[in-house]
Amino acid sequence: MTAVLMDGKALAAKVRAEVAREVEEIGVSIGLATVLVGEDPASAVYIRRKQEACREVGIEPIDHKLDESLSEEGLLAVIEELNADDRVTGILVQLPLPEQIDEDRIIRAVHPIKDVDGFHPTNAGQLFQGNPTFAAATPSGIMELLREYDVALKGARAVVVGRSNIVGKPMALLLLAEHATATIAHSRTQDLGAVTKDADVLVVAVGRPETVTAGMVKAGATVIDVGINRVNGTLVGDVSVDVRDQAGLLTPVPGGVGPMTIAALLRNTVRAARYQAGQLAFPLDGR
Ligand code: GUN
Repeated sequence: MTAVLMDGKALAAKVRAEVAREVEEIGVSIGLATVLVGEDPASAVYIRRKQEACREVGIEPIDHKLDESLSEEGLLAVIEELNADDRVTGILVQLPLPEQIDEDRIIRAVHPIKDVDGFHPTNAGQLFQGNPTFAAATPSGIMELLREYDVALKGARAVVVGRSNIVGKPMALLLLAEHATATIAHSRTQDLGAVTKDADVLVVAVGRPETVTAGMVKAGATVIDVGINRVNGTLVGDVSVDVRDQAGLLTPVPGGVGPMTIAALLRNTVRAARYQAGQLAFPLDGR
């Protein structure tokens, strides 16, 4: 069997067109502050793509590029300014941050109503309790891709490899909300292949090439490859190429999950503006 490739690029273009229409309809101005600390080249690329996508749909990107040596207090001060600025309806702090800065403290400093990444414990907790406000962009984009390709989730065995707060954990919660039997596997899982082989839907978000090979995949499974690794100058995912002959549906790298992450971020950014304009009720007032 040769897997059908799930075209995240095409679906993301459709979502952007939809978001652009929504931005026009709702008639509130939307500003996304993007905060990049330091010079990490991959992060700089991601920020540029996010800003371009914003412009395309009528969201104003508000660029904050800060010095690598910035202190934690310095970054907290920037975030407080953005929290208080009415022109800024969404705040995105690109991770990872330099080592002198405590990421958790920064994540908690972003006001939850502007937290378009869904990383604040308040928004992560809302997802945990089955009442999502902002769900993290990568898992949200993957859910949209699964819907587009009519992947059955109810009662399906879904295995997520990776337990990060950004992808693995929220992914499992979103799959669970659709009534999948969700399992999280990770670097300490014994006999990973036995666990993944059971999956009807397999999401791999580890950040290591060749984490999942054909022998670890059920014939006809849907395989979502979240990895973006550079190997000898080429981008590869976490799933090895031989999985193409085993999976039923498979996301390519690049062109699968990546564009959907940005599309989901745009949806969250519009949602943030609508919360702040009172068009949608944000269930919480504080932090
Ligand atoms: N770093 C890797 N993925 C993400 C993401 O989705 N959002 C932010 N802010 N940083 C990231």
